[in-house]
Amino acid sequence: MANDWWKDAVVYQIYPRSFQDTNGDGIGDLRGVIARLDYIKELGADVIWICPIYPSPNVDNGYDVTDHQAIMKSYGTMEDFHDLLTECRSRGLKLVMDFVLNHTSTEHPWFKEAEMNPNSKYRKYYFWRPGTADGPPTDWVSDYGQSVWQYEEHTGEYYLHMNAVKQADLNWENPEMRQSVYEMMRFWLDKGVDGLRIDQLHLLSKKEYLPPYEDYIARRADPKPFRPNGARIHDYLKEMTKEVFSKYDVMSVGEAGSVTPEEGLVYTGTDEHELNMIFHFQHMELDQKPGQEHWDVKPLELSDLKKVLTDWQKKLEHQGWNTLYWCNHDQPRIVSRFGDEGKYRKASAKMLAALLYFMKGTPYIYQGEELGMTNAPFDRIEDYQDIQTVNMYHKRVFEMGRDREEVMASIMAKSRDHARTPMQWDGSRNAGFTEGEPWLKVNPNYKTINAAEAENDPDSVLNFYKKLIRLRKQYADVIKGSYTLLLPDDPQLFVYERQANGQKLISISNVSKEEAAFYWPDGSEPGSAKLLLSNYENAGSADSCITFRPYETRVYLLA
Ligand code: NOJ
Repeated sequence: MANDWWKDAVVYQIYPRSFQDTNGDGIGDLRGVIARLDYIKELGADVIWICPIYPSPNVDNGYDVTDHQAIMKSYGTMEDFHDLLTECRSRGLKLVMDFVLNHTSTEHPWFKEAEMNPNSKYRKYYFWRPGTADGPPTDWVSDYGQSVWQYEEHTGEYYLHMNAVKQADLNWENPEMRQSVYEMMRFWLDKGVDGLRIDQLHLLSKKEYLPPYEDYIARRADPKPFRPNGARIHDYLKEMTKEVFSKYDVMSVGEAGSVTPEEGLVYTGTDEHELNMIFHFQHMELDQKPGQEHWDVKPLELSDLKKVLTDWQKKLEHQGWNTLYWCNHDQPRIVSRFGDEGKYRKASAKMLAALLYFMKGTPYIYQGEELGMTNAPFDRIEDYQDIQTVNMYHKRVFEMGRDREEVMASIMAKSRDHARTPMQWDGSRNAGFTEGEPWLKVNPNYKTINAAEAENDPDSVLNFYKKLIRLRKQYADVIKGSYTLLLPDDPQLFVYERQANGQKLISISNVSKEEAAFYWPDGSEPGSAKLLLSNYENAGSADSCITFRPYETRVYLLA
């Protein structure tokens, strides 16, 4: 890889629907993104990743695309998009698009034709199977709580959808389909886009989901025979690199569920020429009861978090590259999840940032994370719009007869809508997001948690993020250096060292509401330690024992 600029970049993720509305329709738009570019620049980010902005019926808020080479009307026009690119350029910001290539909307012209004409070449762009005497070809169930097969009357066959019913899976076995996708990718990169985020790459190779007919009858009893990251995924990615990425100086990042660090190394190891980096989910699954769904919440064990983050740091230390993220549009707000959204909201939001972003990798900051935005307190299902949330509610309450309050408790902890409430810009009506009716309710705490307020408060989470990003740049070499976890068994403190070129950096975080005693490791000279960052006032000198206050974090530089 000639130019690894993405290794030094900080990425800011925008969910355009909820970012900034400028025409009063209650939905964010591209002009709104342009209006807020200075805010992103001032934060210190270098790259923007924007979630899908293509035409879509919005069953899954843009992840159900009908045309990969156009702009959704409610977001604006292609001209607006070009202006966005130009405005990014003029500020030295790069722009990464989100690309959904595991599936299309069933409203996509390819699918429409496939549905109507079994002899069309587009039929082979998707998966079609005859049913069995009992109905669908297999009894596989998706994360959206339904069969992954949908009967289509016109041809009397079922099509595969690993996500919602209206998201039909593309057949990556078909080389012609793959070429069509590469063409669409090049369309955006030729415009000067700086990279692509690939949605659900772990689902692209599905050979193993679709065994021969007799086999899948035999496997009907198997409740979850899905094998993500299937056999041919690496061939597809190598081909994609050859056909697309190798022709541009761009970054690539893939969403990869169910991957281990070993597989992460194959995806991102530079010798393999697949992707620059991937999003794994191992740290996001630590508050989920083993073997159950992400709705089934359990408290986080700090030792699990240390193990997972350390594993990824160590296994990708010499080859490959990590993403560093707590939040995105699919995850609840981290401060409500692993921190404290009440008394210690600011302290814990800052602590979580310092804990993660001094690791090696590319940080991804999701809109509002830099303000310490929290989960929404919505306790009525009517206030949620996310299809996964609504489907789960109906399934658990109406089909399974589960207790409504218990189901609402899961939703209040884990719904994707917590990340999607409108961005909180200021204390005016609708948090300055829209002058109309927002498509999703604003979190009522916007009067106190908002960007305008944070900009004026030297102690805000926002100003802490700014400082942290400046430090990351200043100490880029040591942050790319070797990683050592200290105190692996301490139940409250997460402590690690980074080392390179005779410099050492130590990040110490109290991930608890109680005080915690920290003793400097043998051989260190606390007296010479320089405090680079902390989230409490009067952080004090580097005595041999420091009492860390609730959610306190400190980062020191040791000569
Ligand atoms: C992952 C995306 O991040 C999520 O929002 C979407 O629902 C699924 N992929 C399906 O495209």
